[in-house]
Order: sequence, then C-alpha cells, then structure tokens
Amino acid sequence: MDRYAVFGNPIGQSKSPFIHSQFALQCNQPMQYDAILAPVEGFADSWADFVASGGKGGNVTVPFKEQAFQLAEILSARAQQAGAVNTLYINNDGQLCGDNTDGIGLVADLTRLGVNLAGCTVLLLGAGGASRGAIGPLLDAGVTQLVLANRTLSKAQTIAATFDSRVLACGYTDIPVQAYPLIINATSAGLAGGRPVIDPNYLKDCQLAYDMVYGSRPTAFMQWAEQYGVVQQADGLGMLLAQAAAAFRLWRGITPDINPVMALLKQQWAT
Ligand code: ATR
Repeated sequence: MDRYAVFGNPIGQSKSPFIHSQFALQCNQPMQYDAILAPVEGFADSWADFVASGGKGGNVTVPFKEQAFQLAEILSARAQQAGAVNTLYINNDGQLCGDNTDGIGLVADLTRLGVNLAGCTVLLLGAGGASRGAIGPLLDAGVTQLVLANRTLSKAQTIAATFDSRVLACGYTDIPVQAYPLIINATSAGLAGGRPVIDPNYLKDCQLAYDMVYGSRPTAFMQWAEQYGVVQQADGLGMLLAQAAAAFRLWRGITPDINPVMALLKQQWAT
C-alpha cells in the first residue's frame, strides 16, 4: 500500500490524517496516511527514513515548510514564490518535488464561498509565511489591488517588494481608506484567541471576513466582523481541506470533494 504522511512538530493536533483517510475512502485509493513527529532540526533525516520505508509523498506543516523547501530538488513556481513547501512527492525520475498548495487552497475556498476575485481589492492582514504563500495565487486569480497590512511594517514591505505594484505594504494605522470587499486575516493572532487590531471603519464595505485560522468556534476576528455588520464570515477550515485536496491530486491524480469531509469535521466538533 502506498504510504503518505504529514510531518510537523507538534503533530498530535493535525487533521490531515483524518482528511486524507477520508479522501482515500471517497476516491477508492488504497493508501496509508500517518502523522510523523519529526525533531525540530531533523526534518531531512525523518523524510529520508520515511522514503526508505516506502513513503511516496508527504505534507509538511509548522515548523518544517522552509526545511522542506531546502530539501526539494525540484520546486514548483508556487513553492518558489511562497518560499515554502507544504507538499512533497517523488516523480517518475526519482527526484524529490516540492509544491505549495496553501495559496490555491485559499483561492479555491474563497471561490466556494462565492467570492469573485477578478477585479477585487483585498485587505490582507499579517505578513508571515501564511500571507506570503497566499499573495501569488490571489493575484493570479485576478485580484487587482492587494493591501498587505502588518503590525511590523518592515515585514510587509519585504514581502511586497517581491511582487509588483499591485501589492502595497502598510502598518495597521495607515491602511489606505477605500472599499475592501474581502478582508483576510492571515495573522496567527487567532491561535491565541486574539485578532489584529484595526479600525472597524475598514469593515464598512466588507462582504466577507475570512480568517485563515479555524476551530470549533468562530474566531475573535470573525466575531468582531459580525459585530460590525459584515454579512459573511468564514474560518480557514475550507482552506485546510482545499490545500489537502490539491495535495491529494498531485499524488493520486484525482480531486476529492471536500464537502463531505468538512461536514464530518464539523460534526465531530459539535459532539
Ligand atoms: P505564519 O506562518 O502563520 O504566517 P508567522 O510567520 O510567525 O506565522 O507570522 C505570524 C503573523 O501574525 C505576523 O504577521 C505577525 O505580526 P508581526 O509580523 O508584527 O509579528 C502576526 N501576528 C501574530 N500575533 C499577532 C497579534 N496579536 N496581532 C497582530 N498580528 C499578529
């Protein structure tokens, strides 16, 4: 049976084994998917052991996306742009290929939620790895202006400099005043129950407030957006599932349907 795994540290909380096992059942693919706790400085060795025992492909999560980027022999354009790899596989020539499906997962989820990204102006909050991986796919999907706001301005400026004039960097207190139909929270503040602090006036024309963080309850950012009248809020569960579906496709050539798996995960949280 073909073996796949997610590598992280910590890894106990990962939903990937459940998600990929469900995808395998749905698509009738005989495969095994495990969670592997790699030592913080030892991703390469852990990956080598996995391949030696028949591993065909993997997902990579915190803190190994940069180490996987260094390890891959062939990088997709998406991975190069993101500076990080979340999906690994071995091609027919035996070379290790690194890709990044996080950004296309976000775009797929926004599309599922009814957002038309063509011609859209987006406010993206946060300038870490999650944000960097999202920008290229958002621009490819037709976003015409992307305001990248971060608590630490210099980090937003460094990322914006790797893109063209469609991406504008700023701090939270000097976000240009204009209509933002889509506001995405790519900060990690939600992991600690917080949210980036920006003036609620920026929510005035917002149709969807999207938080890349997810959990059993609406995040602080989603609750704040709802309080100020934003009609639609979403967390990053759909993005998690869509990036997993894109990885599954790279490995198995089939795109699974994320909806039944999303329903199962929500059911688990509800009980
Ligand atoms: P990730 O890979 O999840 O993007 P990261 O690279 O550590 O993680 O980046 C975390 C992002 O969340 C950064 O933009 C960080 O802001 P700073 O660059 O100013 O540190 C942001 N962040 C984390 N906690 C935050 C908070 N409480 N308020 C605002 N921004 C926060």
